[in-house]
Amino acid sequence: MLSNYELYENRYPGCACDIPAHTYTFPFEPNPDWSGYYSYAPEIQEYFIRFYTKYNLEPFVVLGTEVVAAEWHDLEGKWHVQLKRKDGSTFEDTCNVLINGSGVLTKWKWPAIDGLHDFKGVLAHSAYWPQDLDWTDKRVAVIGTGSSSIQMVPKLAATASSVTVFMRNQTYIAPQFGANVTNKEADPAAMDPAAAGKHQYTEKEKQRFRDDPEYHLEYRKKVEGSIVGGWDMFNRGTDLNIQVRELMQNQMRDRLGNREDLKERIIPTWSPGCRRLTPGEGYLEALIKENVTCNFDGIDGVNATGLLTGKGEQVDVDILVCATGFDVQYLPHFRIVGLGAQVMQDQTTPNVYASIAAPGFPNYFVINGPRGNWGQGCALPSHETQMEYILQCCRKMQEDQIKSMHPKEKITTQLNAYEDAWHEKSVNGRIHIWPGSLLHHLKYLKRPRYEHYEIDYKDPDNVFAFLGNGRTISQVKHGAGAPVPYIRNDEDTPWDIE
Ligand SMILES: Cc1cc2nc3c(=O)[nH]c(=O)nc-3n(C[C@H](O)[C@H](O)[C@H](O)COP(=O)(O)OP(=O)(O)OC[C@H]3O[C@@H](n4cnc5c(N)ncnc54)[C@H](O)[C@@H]3O)c2cc1C
Ligand SMILES: NC(=O)c1ccc[n+]([C@@H]2O[C@H](COP(=O)([O-])OP(=O)(O)OC[C@H]3O[C@@H](n4cnc5c(N)ncnc54)[C@H](OP(=O)(O)O)[C@@H]3O)[C@@H](O)[C@H]2O)c1
Repeated sequence: MLSNYELYENRYPGCACDIPAHTYTFPFEPNPDWSGYYSYAPEIQEYFIRFYTKYNLEPFVVLGTEVVAAEWHDLEGKWHVQLKRKDGSTFEDTCNVLINGSGVLTKWKWPAIDGLHDFKGVLAHSAYWPQDLDWTDKRVAVIGTGSSSIQMVPKLAATASSVTVFMRNQTYIAPQFGANVTNKEADPAAMDPAAAGKHQYTEKEKQRFRDDPEYHLEYRKKVEGSIVGGWDMFNRGTDLNIQVRELMQNQMRDRLGNREDLKERIIPTWSPGCRRLTPGEGYLEALIKENVTCNFDGIDGVNATGLLTGKGEQVDVDILVCATGFDVQYLPHFRIVGLGAQVMQDQTTPNVYASIAAPGFPNYFVINGPRGNWGQGCALPSHETQMEYILQCCRKMQEDQIKSMHPKEKITTQLNAYEDAWHEKSVNGRIHIWPGSLLHHLKYLKRPRYEHYEIDYKDPDNVFAFLGNGRTISQVKHGAGAPVPYIRNDEDTPWDIE
């Protein structure tokens, strides 16, 4: 039986998507029923469960089973995957192609702060949240200023007796995305998207989305376009970059009222985009509330009753929340052994080709890998495009009798040498973000460039083995009645022969 902490991760108060709900869907699976401009975690979960049921995915899914290791056996051309069930029993399975979709934000961690577990009150993490926690009239401390903290602080501040936010770094709170996209045509009473977190779609708007898929599509395109269209602001030194930086800084100053202390400590000097931009509905307004204190003194340690600041002051609290993030190392959390017994986890920095494949690790693909679309907009369009890319590779391997493919080391190194706008805030590390816009990333991945891959045929002495006996599958299946799809009325009608 799981405790009320463990059922699912990321169920902290205010947990939501921070890009508009109508774009936080699979691009081919719209949802006319989103209740508001941003959707909260339970509604997002419902969407994905509906998707799972609609497409009858259950037979293809093994739940409660962890991948603990995977090793490539080159002679056989197969991955041997070690798996562990919830009851601790283990087993092995094999596959020709291993697709790693294990996410990056799945391994949450407690911060390395002295005495953290000596705390006698309630200790929570944004990803490990006790569902029965009531913070009304309680003294709460929140460590961190990332997106999780930004979403939870307004909710906590609404009823807690006090909230102390321990801050180490600056962060941008962005204006609402798509604030100029109106939906008055569907309902003159439609709320302005600028109302963001307070924004709810009216029944009339939702009905129009349901009844008129073309209208809904146009609406979704406008919202997505308003996010994607902002790409140029991430180009360091451009007019737009400078203008947007000033605009955001000024907006933050306005929202922080007369709190000069906070303006100095919170508003970044670097460009927007160096850290994920989040609209942070109500966050700055919460920080200036009477019951909220921002503490910049650092944390020396935690003890039974609270935190000891770097200035030696004790801050006693009832609830200590670590909104301190995940173990994001961009390397899989399970051991992967590739060609020549090389271990991916031994790499000091991931050497991944275009976020999707790795030299030395044949038939291994990643969804949402390093050097992917981490900087702009929604992750889901890249997930779909990456999956289609992988399917194209699988199809080629299957049809052309290829044993394995993996990207060439030299090409991968060349590609990874491309720098980007995100580099401004890096001190000396590599930036694991695609060096271009979301559209640029999707276009690159729309078709595999097989010339960038080392390709091993099943029979290297007969690479044309796939030609078989000169007849196509369609002829074997249908004999003299095999279809002739190249005969058509219109040049643009696609055709293929099975
Ligand atoms: C609170 C929060 C809000 C976010 N909001 C947005 C947003 O608004 N827009 C956006 O684009 N992105 C957002 N993100 C980023 C988000 O992570 C991605 O959008 C999306 O969830 C990534 O999907 P994924 O399938 O790659 O990984 P995940 O959704 O993390 O799924 C990975 C799955 O793999 C499983 N797994 C991991 N390791 C193993 C293993 N060894 N064996 C078996 N299974 C394993 C995990 O249990 C999990 O089910 C948000 C992230 C968080 C934490
Ligand atoms: N899109 C969304 O709606 C949404 C919502 C939540 C999360 N997410 C995603 O999930 C990921 C994780 O977000 P997150 O907010 O959980 O984590 P995060 O972005 O990694 O932020 C962690 C915060 O904790 C601070 N911190 C960590 N260890 C600390 C310590 N020992 N002492 C003091 N402060 C410490 C960090 O300070 P420094 O800044 O100084 O390092 C940072 O402010 C991000 O990629 C984010 O985009 C997205």
